[in-house]
Amino acid sequence: MAGITIAIDGFSSCGKSTLAKALANHLNYIYVDSGAMYRAVTLHLINTGLLKDGHFISKQVINELNRIHIKFQYNRELNRSETYLNGENVEKDIRTMEISRQVSAISAIPEVRAKLVGIQQTMGSEGGVVMDGRDIGTVVFPNADVKLFMTASNDIRAERRYLEMKEKGQDLTLEEVKHSIARRDHLDMNRDISPLRKADDAIELDNSELDEEQQFELALKIINEKVRSLETAKS
Ligand code: DC
Repeated sequence: MAGITIAIDGFSSCGKSTLAKALANHLNYIYVDSGAMYRAVTLHLINTGLLKDGHFISKQVINELNRIHIKFQYNRELNRSETYLNGENVEKDIRTMEISRQVSAISAIPEVRAKLVGIQQTMGSEGGVVMDGRDIGTVVFPNADVKLFMTASNDIRAERRYLEMKEKGQDLTLEEVKHSIARRDHLDMNRDISPLRKADDAIELDNSELDEEQQFELALKIINEKVRSLETAKS
């Protein structure tokens, strides 16, 4: 059987990408980090001076879109897929607080979403894909075979992200991280177009009390059950 389509959505810093990467590795599927694409667009707009301190002119942003080329390339040494913006590896540059602060505003622009959703749909058109984001199960792949919606308590998410940022040498307080996550959730859930929401047929996975391995096992069980039921239906 050709690979299935797995959509993983949820709030910021819920461990979506950790789970999505582990599943893609295990299943030998393509992994697509859709958030990285919104981050790369944001980085490009900052670099070109079209986005400054949260301010931008929509028309200019829309005009710039056809000069933005994003792709993922697998890094064998690091065993991970990395984001390229116009041919340059930007994996590290898109993970800063500066980008996190501005990305929600850019991802609320309909033309930006239309462009990235189109690319995402092409990337996943053959199946055998795990994609994580905010609208994968609702907009990008509304017919995904498995839809997971991840949640975790606000405190736990903030603590995880705080430790992650500290490891990367970014000097922030836990309070600042908590505030940034809450702000991004609010913007992502309340934008007019494709707001973050759980698809009606998504399975909610709260990982507040789960470690990475437990979360992985639980997700894999859901996926294996789905694959079995698809195979039974086919035979
Ligand atoms: O997953 P992330 O935190 O790297 O995503 C960064 C931002 O991109 C997120 O705050 C909202 C936006 N995003 C989106 O609007 N739709 C997606 N499918 C993925 C991310």
